[in-house]
Amino acid sequence: MTSDTPILTNQVEYHPFKEQADLLEFCIENEVMLTAYSPLAEGRIIRNDRLKAIGARYGKTEVQVALRWLLQQEQVTAIPKTSNPAHIQAYFNVFNFELADEEMMQIFDLQGGLLTRLQTALGL
Ligand SMILES: NC(=O)c1ccc[n+]([C@@H]2O[C@H](COP(=O)([O-])OP(=O)(O)OC[C@H]3O[C@@H](n4cnc5c(N)ncnc54)[C@H](OP(=O)(O)O)[C@@H]3O)[C@@H](O)[C@H]2O)c1
Repeated sequence: MTSDTPILTNQVEYHPFKEQADLLEFCIENEVMLTAYSPLAEGRIIRNDRLKAIGARYGKTEVQVALRWLLQQEQVTAIPKTSNPAHIQAYFNVFNFELADEEMMQIFDLQGGLLTRLQTALGL
């Protein structure tokens, strides 16, 4: 059975270690939001060297870089979880900096060499 009501969002696991390129392309084409659950990979992104190095340029943590990377993608939002009030504050403090295109791509490349595969496919 299908619904006549348009789908507002599709909630799936999405974070710097999880590729969702095909689904995101579908969501953009069909004007459906992609809601990223486990956006911090259940905490596994903590202490990631690449995210930490990028964050250091902006005075941000690896957590904030991961959330910013999600929010800067078209039609993506995120629902990070925490039991720590200080972490809630940190989650909100991601709207006053912007990742450069190159940094966005460096984070995409954490997904098992997606950037390398894209560059090869595009002949770059
Ligand atoms: N639709 C579905 O099937 C589905 C499946 C899974 C999850 N979800 C939803 O997705 C949401 C979040 O996903 P998630 O709970 O899997 O994990 P997540 O948001 O990816 O990660 C949360 C973990 O990161 C830790 N964390 C955050 N900031 C930290 C910091 N600065 N230092 C150290 N640890 C830090 C938190 O610990 P603290 O508590 O100590 O901050 C928490 O353990 C939840 O609302 C959940 O319901 C939905």
